[in-house]
Order: sequence, then structure tokens, then C-alpha cells
Amino acid sequence: MKKTHLVLGIESTCDETACAIVRDGHDILSNVISSQIDLHKEYGGVVPELACRRHVDVMIPVLDEALKRANVQLEQVDLIAVAHGPGLIGALLIGINMAKALALAIQRPFIGINHIEAHLYAAMMSHSKPIQFPCLGVVLSGGHTALVLIRDIGTYQLIGQTVDDAVGEAFDKVAKMLHLPYPGGPKIEELARKGNHKGFPFKGGHVKGRPLDFSFSGLKTAVLYALQAISNPSEQDRHDLAASFQHAALNDIVQKTLVAASQYNVKTVIFGGGVTNSRYLRELFNKENQHLEYLWPASGLSLDNAAMIAGLGYHYFQKRGYGDSMELEPLVRIPFAVNSY
Ligand code: KG4
Ligand code: ZN
Repeated sequence: MKKTHLVLGIESTCDETACAIVRDGHDILSNVISSQIDLHKEYGGVVPELACRRHVDVMIPVLDEALKRANVQLEQVDLIAVAHGPGLIGALLIGINMAKALALAIQRPFIGINHIEAHLYAAMMSHSKPIQFPCLGVVLSGGHTALVLIRDIGTYQLIGQTVDDAVGEAFDKVAKMLHLPYPGGPKIEELARKGNHKGFPFKGGHVKGRPLDFSFSGLKTAVLYALQAISNPSEQDRHDLAASFQHAALNDIVQKTLVAASQYNVKTVIFGGGVTNSRYLRELFNKENQHLEYLWPASGLSLDNAAMIAGLGYHYFQKRGYGDSMELEPLVRIPFAVNSY
């Protein structure tokens, strides 16, 4: 196998259209992301039909920009890696068809990559140090909340997950209640800065008999009832509500992560997904002196991006030695543990 490997990554699982060129799984030559936030803002969430149309419109310009910034010709690309799930079916189809068309055009292999796994790889590619396996992966995004034991790249065991809303989804829904625009996470964090997190007695959800699982729907409803109980919330009430909700949701994640780390005796925790952008979350973890090493994704790699897809694609191709067939289908859901070489 050739030593230098230029991988083109393509990401279109939800509301970001992204292309990236990555060398040898970690060297990011370009990482272009076209966000659709402007398009979905007024609806308080992603509208699938609008997302698909935007992906069609911007996919080729985003690809051109990624090649240009990397100073790479399409023909120099050795492998195409595309996120083939989980995500919105129509959105996934656009990325996958793009990958297949390019693979045919330049006669190179292409490979389907699990978007959630790639979120965890994003933190690994952000650090030059070799990772000590097994380690604990914490996926916190708009669609997923999971604790994963990572034995190696490509070998995972799901040990905890949400039974209802994902944590980012809960932030987005609470933001909507507070009339804040989508995506709500950063807006809640901003509002919470002037708030008292003990202002409202909110708690993270417990799933009976499953201490590593999450539940955020009760917390979300508690915020709704608290809001309804105050007929005319003051600015300070809004700050306190945001701070109390944020603390309850994120502290729940911190506590369950620490339990999982000790139960599985890991020394390193790897974070992935848009919610890891939260400074408050990082502060909460840093306050816990558990002798754990925390690996966070570098900026530009925590939200949806194609560099993480290209990076993980490189490793899969190295280990497996061949790409996917033209039969590759989008997968709206992918069970974690099933995905190995
Ligand atoms: O990983 P991502 O870009 O998309 C998915 O794959 O879902 O994550 C987006 C999610 C949104 O729900 C957004 O509200 C949340 O990440 N988010 C945050 C913060 N920044 C982004 N949640 C809490 N605090 C933040 N600072
Ligand atoms: Zn994502």
C-alpha cells in the first residue's frame, strides 16, 4: 500500500455540508464546512427537505474549495470516505452519491464511515500522542448521547446511551422554550453565564437498573413547568433557568462518565460531538480531579465536519484493505458495537 494517503472526506448527515482533505489520517490539509444554520434558524430545528436541497446546491462548491485550499487535484486523491449514517436519509444519499460518482470518475475506492465513530476519532486526531486503549468515548451531539468503551479504532462496546432525547436535542428544545434560535446549545450557555445554577432544583434523569444510561425528557419537561409557573419571567429568571438546566444536564453527564471510567478502569476519556463545544462542560470535567486524561476535539473538529470522516476512513481502509461496493446504502441508524472491520 502507498505510504502517503490523501483522503477526501465527505459529510452530509444533517445540516452541514462538508469536504476535507486529510493526509495519512491526521494531517488536515483543508476542512471546509458550509453550515445551514441560517436556513433552519426560524424553524427551531432542522427541516429535512430544506437540508437536502441545500446539500445539492453547495456540495460541489464545497468540494472545489476543499481541493483548492489543500492545493490538491481531484486525481491525486487516493481514497474517498463518506459518512453513510446515522443521519437524515435524503441528506445521506447526497453525500453517498457524490462519493460514488467521484470514485467512478477517478477510479479510486470509497468507504462508508459511521458519523458517530468519526466524532470520537476527531478527538484522537487532535492529539499527536498515541492513545492508551481501552479508553472511554463520550459522544454528545444533537442526535446522540452515548458512553462507549473503545478497545481500538473500530472496536467498540456501547455501555450507556440515552433512552429518549439526545443532550444536544434537549438544549435545542429548551432554547426554543426560551425563544432562543437554533442551535440552542451555545445560546443557552451564553444566557446561563449570568445565571445561578442553583436557582431551580432540576436534576438529570435516572434510568432504573441502568446507571450508565441517560434520560433528558423529564428534565426538559421540568423546565417547561418551571417556565409556566412564572407568568412573566424576568431576565434574571431566564438566566437562572438556563444555568440550572445546563448544570443539571451536563453534571449528569460528568457523573455518569466518572462512574463508567472507574467501572471499566480506563485512564483516558475521549469526547466527541457538538455539545463538547461547551466551555461549561469542560470546566465541570476539569474540576473533577480523578487522575483521568481528557481528550477534547480541537476547534473546528467538534461540530460536524469532514476531516474526522476522512481521518477515520484512512484507518478503516488501512486495516480492511478494500473499499465499499456501489451497493453501499445510507443507514439512518447504525448500532455502535456492530461496526468493526
Ligand atoms: O455534533 P453536532 O454538530 O451535530 C450532530 O451530529 O448532532 O452537534 C450539534 C448539537 C446541537 O444540538 C447544539 O445545540 C449542540 O450541539 N451544542 C451545544 C453547544 N454547542 C453546540 N450544546 C450545549 N452547549 C454548547 N456550547
Ligand atoms: Zn454530528
